[in-house]
Amino acid sequence: MITSKELRNKWIKFYESKGHVNIGAVSLIGDGTTGVMFNVAGMQPLMPYLLGQPHPKGKRLCNVQGCVRTVDIESVGDATHFTFFEMMGNWSLGDYFKKEKTAWSFELLTEVFGLDKDKICSTVFAGNESAPRDEETANLLQALGIKKEHIFYLDKSNNWWELEGTEGTPCGPDNEWFYPLTDKECGRVPCDINCPCGRYVEIGNDVYMQYKKTKDGYVPLENKNVDTGFGLDRMLAFLNGLTDGYKTDLFSGVIAYLEKASGKKYDDGGQAQRAMRIIADHTRTSVMLIGDVNGILPSNTGAGYILRRLMRRAIRYCKALGVSSKEMLSVAKIFIEEIYDEAYPLLPQKEGYILEEIEKEINRFESTLEKGMKEFEKTISGIERKNEFMAKQDPSYQNETAIGGKAAFKLFDTYGFPLELTVELATERGYTVDEKGFEEAFKEHREKSHAQAAGEFKGGLADTGVATTRLHTATHLLNAALKTVLSPDINQKGSNITPERLRFDFNFARPMTQEEIQAVEDLVNEKIKENIPVVYEEMPYDRARAEGIVGVFDNKYGDVVKTYSIGCFSREMCGGPHAANTGELGHFKIVKEQSSASGIRRIKAILE
Ligand code: ALA
Repeated sequence: MITSKELRNKWIKFYESKGHVNIGAVSLIGDGTTGVMFNVAGMQPLMPYLLGQPHPKGKRLCNVQGCVRTVDIESVGDATHFTFFEMMGNWSLGDYFKKEKTAWSFELLTEVFGLDKDKICSTVFAGNESAPRDEETANLLQALGIKKEHIFYLDKSNNWWELEGTEGTPCGPDNEWFYPLTDKECGRVPCDINCPCGRYVEIGNDVYMQYKKTKDGYVPLENKNVDTGFGLDRMLAFLNGLTDGYKTDLFSGVIAYLEKASGKKYDDGGQAQRAMRIIADHTRTSVMLIGDVNGILPSNTGAGYILRRLMRRAIRYCKALGVSSKEMLSVAKIFIEEIYDEAYPLLPQKEGYILEEIEKEINRFESTLEKGMKEFEKTISGIERKNEFMAKQDPSYQNETAIGGKAAFKLFDTYGFPLELTVELATERGYTVDEKGFEEAFKEHREKSHAQAAGEFKGGLADTGVATTRLHTATHLLNAALKTVLSPDINQKGSNITPERLRFDFNFARPMTQEEIQAVEDLVNEKIKENIPVVYEEMPYDRARAEGIVGVFDNKYGDVVKTYSIGCFSREMCGGPHAANTGELGHFKIVKEQSSASGIRRIKAILE
């Protein structure tokens, strides 16, 4: 039996013994530069260094980094999918390469973790027009003692690693490591790593990150880097001979608690087991996201919406399991106090805050859940009635089997039902949901409220004198500074400018602390001092979105949008006008920070 704490330590100790510096973990929330909301891989925060910038801690780094991947949210409930997991990583930034890396991965697996070299399987890149077949790695693996027939050449879809959809990022072919959970073959021939029976599990991979993804293909990087990632949650299960990730010490306390609370047995399988897994996984991720250094809160947009979906899904599954949704609080406590207290010391420090925010969301959802369920039932019986009626009129009538987009949007907007909750409920009743119609209804609603906000904004810009122009540029700096200091999830909710002051509303659930106000003020003044030119550019809307340019009125402008950039610090879609240089602004001062509406804060600031 190996514990999660031992596994983290063994990883770090091993790579330290090979000259690596443990750089520790950073925030789970993406920094906005990669176009993804959360940190999805250990390499993500290291991107500038993989692209060539020197890292202050040297060329050999390692850590255990929390990651959040929510693309597979629907799969959570099985034995192996998690929305939060920890990635054990190590990196060579233009230092060692394939020879050392293959040897160390091999040594770690065989000597530290005691795996049998005769059973280890490995996959390498088969080659394509961008990069050659990786014979070098295959030869090195064979020289280490891995059987020739255990080395597989796979194509780009399997053995190439890159962040999805993001240009300008480092990437390359990878070498994946596999091991059989059991020696018993399933009967299919061959029962190898490609066998659908799942006897072999992937335990990790070494990426030879030596290319940069560009619009026109892959270009070689100056540095040949190594980017290694082994999933701690999965490895922990595997090393303990478990096929179920929820049986490790990262979850066993929580599962035992849920068994007690519900009077149901996890090992009986079925819906109760699925519910326990979903509650455990989603509560863990919620704790991590709220308790993060750049913690976020549930909301109806961006990363906050993903968090809300996780929380509300967990609440619903508490009901499905037959326990009070307040049990989520007890589950959160176990994660904070017993499971992650050492590896994530910030969690116990923020415990009161995390529990309070979870409880608030439970209360918010509970207060509309019952009414929403009634609305849902009404929608279903409406469709049933219509089907019955139509069938009587016309025997060839095809029954309506989809809940309309407008009805799904009403459930979302009025009753706080995330779309997938409606989809899940619908599926249980044999219905689908018109998801495209939902998106359209959503867009229409957004356009209306943006038009209102724009009206207010235009009012504020009516006086385009020098003072208001400068305050307008200061507003952009403030918006970017709030994202940096508080959370990337911050968005403008309103703005009004007079020649004397700016007023800026944004989503944030609590008053800012004095330190935070100071930090925002300092950051804006720092950018003013840097005398950065404010650059105007027109570009297609899609490109602006792809480059992560923020926009409040983004769907008002049509195809080509006007953008203003202040270095890389602030990029917004905006009609202007703006100061030519931040240096013109003088000194920025926040004079008031107050509540504007529920979940919305308001800042008033001046330029002196
Ligand atoms: N970046 C690689 C991964 O995420 C190591 O698997």
